[in-house]
Amino acid sequence: MARKFFVGGNFKMNGTKESIKSIIENLNKASLDPNVEVVIAPPALYLQLARDTVDKASGVEVAAQNVYHKPNGAYTGEISVAQLKDSDIHWTILGHSERRTLLGETDELVASKTKAAVEGGVSVIWCCGESLEEREAGNTVAVVERQLAALAAKLSAADWKKIVIAYEPIWAIGTGKVATVQQAQEVHEAIRKWLRTQFGDAVADETRILYGGSVNGKNCKDLAKEKDIDGFLVGGASLKPEFVDIINSNQ
Ligand code: G3P
Repeated sequence: MARKFFVGGNFKMNGTKESIKSIIENLNKASLDPNVEVVIAPPALYLQLARDTVDKASGVEVAAQNVYHKPNGAYTGEISVAQLKDSDIHWTILGHSERRTLLGETDELVASKTKAAVEGGVSVIWCCGESLEEREAGNTVAVVERQLAALAAKLSAADWKKIVIAYEPIWAIGTGKVATVQQAQEVHEAIRKWLRTQFGDAVADETRILYGGSVNGKNCKDLAKEKDIDGFLVGGASLKPEFVDIINSNQ
C-alpha cells in the first residue's frame, strides 16, 4: 500500500508572532503538492495563532512540540492532550533528541507520552536517533531499536495508525551535515524490518518513516527517492521559503 508522503516543520524555539504569521501566510499562498501531508510545529505559545492563520483549505495541520501524559492537574509548565484537542491541535512531536538530551526525557517517559497522546486522539511524530559516538561505535540500529522497544512495550498494533516515525541522527541536526542517502535508507530499512517483526506486515507497510537532520531544498530530492524514506522532519529550513521545495520534493 502506498504511504502518503509527509513533511513536518519543527520550528523549535524560534519565531515571533509576526514571523510565524508570515511563514504560514506564505504556505497558504504556495502551490503545495496535494499528495503530501504537511504538519507545522510552532512553539506552544503560538499554536493558537498558527491554527488561526493556516488556511484550512490548504490541508496543513498544526502540531505541538511536546505534550504531557497526565490528563490534568498540578503539572506546572505542561500542556495536556485534551488541551491540545480543545485548541483544535491534532498532532504533536514527541521524543525529539533535544528533549531527550537537554531536558532528560527517558525512553519510558517518551513512550508514556506517546501512548497518552494516541489514546487521547492526538497523532504523534515520534523521534529517534543516535549520537555521533553511538554511530561511530557501530550501535546506530541498536540505539534506535532500544528507543522503539520502550515504545512498543506500551502500544498495540492499532496505535501505529496515529504514529509517524522520524529518524533523526543527532549528529545531523542543525549541523549542515546531512546523512548520506545510503546511511538514512539503511536505518529506515532497519526500522521497517523491526516493525514487521514486532507488529506484522500492515504496521510495517503503512507506518511512515521520516528522515530529519539538515534537510534542505537541495538535498531533499535525492533522499525522497529512497524506498523507505516517506518524508521529512525539517528544522531550520522549515522557517525559510525553501520549505515549499521540500514539501514538493516527491513530485
Ligand atoms: O526536528 C527537526 C530537526 O531536529 C532537524 O533540524 O535544523 O537539522 O533541519 P535541522
